[in-house]
Amino acid sequence: MQVDPKAAAPAASQSQGSPASAGAHGHGPAQPLGAAPAGPLKGRLRPPGDKSISHRALILGLLAVGRTRITGLLEGDDVLRTAAACAALGARVERLGPGEWQVDGCGVGSLLAPRQTLDFGNAGTGTRLMMGVVGGHPITATFDGDASLRKRPMRRILDPLALMGAQVVSEAEGGRCPVTLRGAGEPAPIEYRTPVPSAQLKSAILLAGLNSPGRTVVIETEASRDHTEKMLAYFGARIVSEPDGPHGRRITLEGRPELKARDVIVPADPSSGAFALVAALITPGSDVTIEGMMMNPLRIGLITTLQEMGADIALLNPRVEGGEDVADLRARHSQLTGADVPAARAPAMIDEYPVLAVAAAFARGETRMRGLSELRVKESDRLAAVAAGLEAAGVVHRIEGDDLIVMGGAQPRGGGEVKTHLDHRIAMSFLVMGMAAQQPMRVDDAAMIATSYPSFRAQMEALGARFA
Ligand code: S3P
Repeated sequence: MQVDPKAAAPAASQSQGSPASAGAHGHGPAQPLGAAPAGPLKGRLRPPGDKSISHRALILGLLAVGRTRITGLLEGDDVLRTAAACAALGARVERLGPGEWQVDGCGVGSLLAPRQTLDFGNAGTGTRLMMGVVGGHPITATFDGDASLRKRPMRRILDPLALMGAQVVSEAEGGRCPVTLRGAGEPAPIEYRTPVPSAQLKSAILLAGLNSPGRTVVIETEASRDHTEKMLAYFGARIVSEPDGPHGRRITLEGRPELKARDVIVPADPSSGAFALVAALITPGSDVTIEGMMMNPLRIGLITTLQEMGADIALLNPRVEGGEDVADLRARHSQLTGADVPAARAPAMIDEYPVLAVAAAFARGETRMRGLSELRVKESDRLAAVAAGLEAAGVVHRIEGDDLIVMGGAQPRGGGEVKTHLDHRIAMSFLVMGMAAQQPMRVDDAAMIATSYPSFRAQMEALGARFA
């Protein structure tokens, strides 16, 4: 059956650009939005399901035999694109209710060739993981998306897939989308050291390796998020992850497992919870509890950093949900001080730098964020977009090589308009700044927020935030 993402989550449909409608490279009219200071933020919220785990649950549902039930799936546009791609590759994907989905999988080795272009919209994770899936099967598929996705480098994925036997039939300049990929019938087992710490890259290789007759090994110098490894093990694959060097991992996957469908509970996304967390810390008088935040050690670099900056964050009710550590976080307004954030921490907080830069603008003294080269290839060049946003808000900052240095103060001036470049996290970060700066902040386009956090505005308003 075909998934209809629009029917599934109306909030996400505004940014939907299907090949037939708004076109594969844009979305509807821009939706400017402002956030103004409105006093303390108070209350509780549960952020939506984790985006990384949501993509993976659908994809492993496709690759498993039997029916996978998913609870708490993020119904943001990015994930709905992956659901549609799973259906195009042969799975039966059904939405049973809010966040409740089921996937009847095809099994490794039994995918169908999609009849149309796989349009991933804004979603780098969906694109790259699915390139791995296609790369390991004897099928051909074309991958495309919006103007942001078309700028993102795919060579890092296509190179190892080529070593495994996949062929790039066509690509835009520099290995960019649209990309047509012909997968390998019998992917060669490879041992691959990733040149950048990227969970998307690691996952693409492992997903291609599923259909290999031998062992696939991925070595990473800096450990990246491990949701693919954990979920593959949960679905019955033989996969071992061992330490490699001071911060690295060596992951070995036995090919051709019979993946068995499982039930997946998706914990709350720490990358989305980060916005309420920082908003509470920088807004005087605030007291906010964020429920069910995933505390996977490879995702909580922001919490560690904020605590080093003097944040009052209490970890309450620690427990395990859906195989991941989770906790409720109680955050109260805190006078932060600047910190030196080591490059080695970047993989554990890679999506949180824009909102950390906002926190740093409210911290006394200098915050230096080191080793941010990967930020240049996210949904936008986030290093440049953050710098421009800080500039618009009157915050003193500079970029030195791959480091971002922010000189904070008690309450930044604010009052600027920020270009979001189709980047949801840039939009949310600077709206958070507007909640606590002296003057409101505006973003030129908030539509992309629906890719990862369709309920952002409603949840923040429930805490007391004011948008206009
Ligand atoms: C993700 C990995 C990260 C992250 C992205 C989600 C994933 O990207 O930025 O939002 O789910 O694997 P990289 O692997 O490129 O660092």
